[in-house]
Amino acid sequence: MDALPFIRRLPKAELHLHLEGTVTPETLVDLSAHQGVGALDLARARALFRYTDFTGFLMAFKAITEHLRSAEDYELVTSRMLERLARQGVVHAEVYVSVGVVYYWQRCEFEPLLAGMERARVRAEAQLGISACWIFDAVRHFGPEEAARVFRKAAELRAEFPSIVGIGIGGDERRTGAEPFRDLYAEARDAGLRLTVHAGETVGPEGIWAALNIGAERIGHGLSAIQDPDLMEVLAERQIPVEICVTSNLKTGCCARVEDHPLRRYFDSGIMVTLNSDDPALFGADLEDEYRLAAGRFGFTEEHLRELAANSIEASFLPPERKVALLRRIESLE
Ligand code: ADE
Ligand code: ZN
Repeated sequence: MDALPFIRRLPKAELHLHLEGTVTPETLVDLSAHQGVGALDLARARALFRYTDFTGFLMAFKAITEHLRSAEDYELVTSRMLERLARQGVVHAEVYVSVGVVYYWQRCEFEPLLAGMERARVRAEAQLGISACWIFDAVRHFGPEEAARVFRKAAELRAEFPSIVGIGIGGDERRTGAEPFRDLYAEARDAGLRLTVHAGETVGPEGIWAALNIGAERIGHGLSAIQDPDLMEVLAERQIPVEICVTSNLKTGCCARVEDHPLRRYFDSGIMVTLNSDDPALFGADLEDEYRLAAGRFGFTEEHLRELAANSIEASFLPPERKVALLRRIESLE
């Protein structure tokens, strides 16, 4: 039986999604037509999306981000992202934005770009009924000083833009763990920001312990927790949400085979797992594909999928009253 109609109807949140990773080659071509620089054709745009390993993937992500330049570019990619999510029955998205890449490589101000994103967000909320908020993501291997600029900008802009809810660190864990960001995470928490960390994607469980030690409220990927029963127990006991991204882990080579992926073992151990698409344009899979994969390859029943959707709402940074309303919709879905 195809689970797709049920999956589409299921109200769900996407909690681990990079704005830049939703940009398709077709959209890059559209952007370049307006940018007035050497126009990009579809073949050249598609070539940017090729990679063979995790390092190559990060380079592809950077190359795509570099093609986003103006407020209008950010407005268009945000609109297309939210339209695509709404078509899949996503009711809320917490979206990583690589402010760290913009500062480090583009060396431009972020405020105008945020203004473009906000226009698209407000419009989508009114027209499609989907809500979204922003998680300012730093690139960990650029170091704490660069991350400080990202996090402090999030703290500063939050008063005017409450849609900025949190911070995170992405990039290459093999080059920098979470520990050097401890003080910055404390500062961000004191400023009212919620804390996420990409952890245990390319390194072992020690990367996840470090993320918990600096106060991470949600773990991005958490793939290597399976190697450490004590860590699994802590994650389950404290109900720390893990933002699972199965297709991402397979495509970047972080997980060799789908049958090796710990998704089902985490779920069965009582860990609060959520399904996410990470960078759908780079991995060729949307959130609904992640739910289909869970059903088709991991044996999740409709009731399990309902639980995963409920987890995505509970693990979100939404206010309690909206969580309750959405959880009721999930429960009563026939
Ligand atoms: N930036 C975008 N996607 C990422 C991922 N999966 N890991 C680290 N950094 C990223
Ligand atoms: Zn990610």
